[in-house]
Amino acid sequence: MMNSETIPKHIAIIMDGNGRWAKEKKLPRIEGHRAGAESVRAVVRACGELGVEYLTLYAFSSENWSRPKAEVNALMTLLKFFLKKEVEELNKNNVQLLAIGALEELPESVQKELQIAFEKTAKNTGLKLILALNYGSRREIVDSVRKIATEVEGNRLSLSSIDEDLISSYLYTADYPDPELLIRTSGEKRISNFLLWQISYAEIVVMDLYWPEFRKVHLQEAITEFQNRQRRFGGVDAISSSD
Ligand code: IPE
Ligand code: IPE
Ligand code: MG
Repeated sequence: MMNSETIPKHIAIIMDGNGRWAKEKKLPRIEGHRAGAESVRAVVRACGELGVEYLTLYAFSSENWSRPKAEVNALMTLLKFFLKKEVEELNKNNVQLLAIGALEELPESVQKELQIAFEKTAKNTGLKLILALNYGSRREIVDSVRKIATEVEGNRLSLSSIDEDLISSYLYTADYPDPELLIRTSGEKRISNFLLWQISYAEIVVMDLYWPEFRKVHLQEAITEFQNRQRRFGGVDAISSSD
């Protein structure tokens, strides 16, 4: 059973398997993405209900541009549609929308819709929903190293002040705590360039269902699994530490 007292503060999800879900149903891939949007709604609602503070969703990676043009276009259209349609629901649930990634490279029309959604939800104090869009973790690290190096070069930062906290503060996720739980659907056991620095000590739960099938029960299942893990952070567990 899930313990409501130790719900992770920050959950990150690699929403995978939309294409395979559609293929099994003999539908075009885009129908899988469309169905996946329904899972996003369900998981956002569930996180709000469970008291999760931050939810980061991997929605489009910097590598996803290599997909067929028609699929990329359909994904962008779906994203715009989602932003426009969901804002009201987000406001009703007190959800603040945020995003990480190279947003300036997204199509203008998507950027515009994002700005509107950011502004309209800016005052909400409940769940922070962070969409990873055109996101790639290595690129994020490269960007932050460049910014830090520029500061050092300009004598605004000393070499000795570079530590883990400083690096964290130069990442896109500077304002958010690290996720304690990372979920990936569709059974794939890989990270695919997602939050490499931030998940150093996250518990990883890979689930054997496609993203369009994901609902609140699956989130609860993943949280239960997380709560049953022994997080040691390089130390020894509580039971053997008294030996
Ligand atoms: C995840 O589903 C959604 C995005 C990457 C946008 P996929 O589209 O990767 O689905 P599969 O992995 O091909 O089944
Ligand atoms: C990761 O899924 C990216 C998103 C969920 C947005 P992919 O389907 O793109 O990753 P790979 O190709 O399995 O590594
Ligand atoms: Mg995939």
